[in-house]
Amino acid sequence: MIGLPGKDNKPILRAYSICSPNWSDELEFYSIIVQNGPLTSKLKDIKINDEIILMTKSTGTLILDALLPGKRLFLFSTGTGFAPFASIIRDPEAFEKFEKVIVTHTCRNTKELEYSESIINKCKTNDILRELTNDKLVYYQTTTREKSLSFGRITNKIIDNSIYTDLKIEPIKSKSDRVMICGSIEFNNDLKKILLNFDFKEGATNKPGEFVIEKAFVG
Ligand code: A2P
Repeated sequence: MIGLPGKDNKPILRAYSICSPNWSDELEFYSIIVQNGPLTSKLKDIKINDEIILMTKSTGTLILDALLPGKRLFLFSTGTGFAPFASIIRDPEAFEKFEKVIVTHTCRNTKELEYSESIINKCKTNDILRELTNDKLVYYQTTTREKSLSFGRITNKIIDNSIYTDLKIEPIKSKSDRVMICGSIEFNNDLKKILLNFDFKEGATNKPGEFVIEKAFVG
């Protein structure tokens, strides 16, 4: 939870995912700005040395330990749901545990893809990250309301197989693939249905499985 003091010193707090990797000494967050929103309309104006509130306890379900061992890790996101994946794709553990990490990001228009593109660029240009992610990290972006190279909802692209044709990869299967999902509630539910149809079992930290969904954070 991060926030700012509100009226009568009552804090205005919202749940955010930490985007920075666990080895970083900086904390990075990714947010939309909600017009007249109580927190983000103020948060957008903070300057260096201003103070923000950061709760010390963190929670979440997108934990590598909640997944059974596998070969490929698929990270499916929409909108600000990319935030936790910005951290995971810079975590050495993800690349130790999996041969390929395939991260997808779907937004309404290309402008909204700029943040994920910038993180992917860091992974390709920063020496340490490049060594870590090398040929193991695959990025797939799609838009749904503005024409782009890859147009359409990711759920449809899984069903019609076009994601596999575009990336030249094998279709997803529960035997060897593991999945994390982070997006709007409707997106999370729709993708969960698709995975259940493919025989994937949901995991939790106390009972690892084949896929996990972010529950604390709704992007
Ligand atoms: P669409 O434009 O077809 O609704 P939002 O900004 O509403 O959170 O949406 C972010 C992205 O997620 C949009 O590209 C949107 O596509 C897509 N999306 C929203 N709901 C779903 C869903 N249930 N299944 C697949 N994609 C979804």
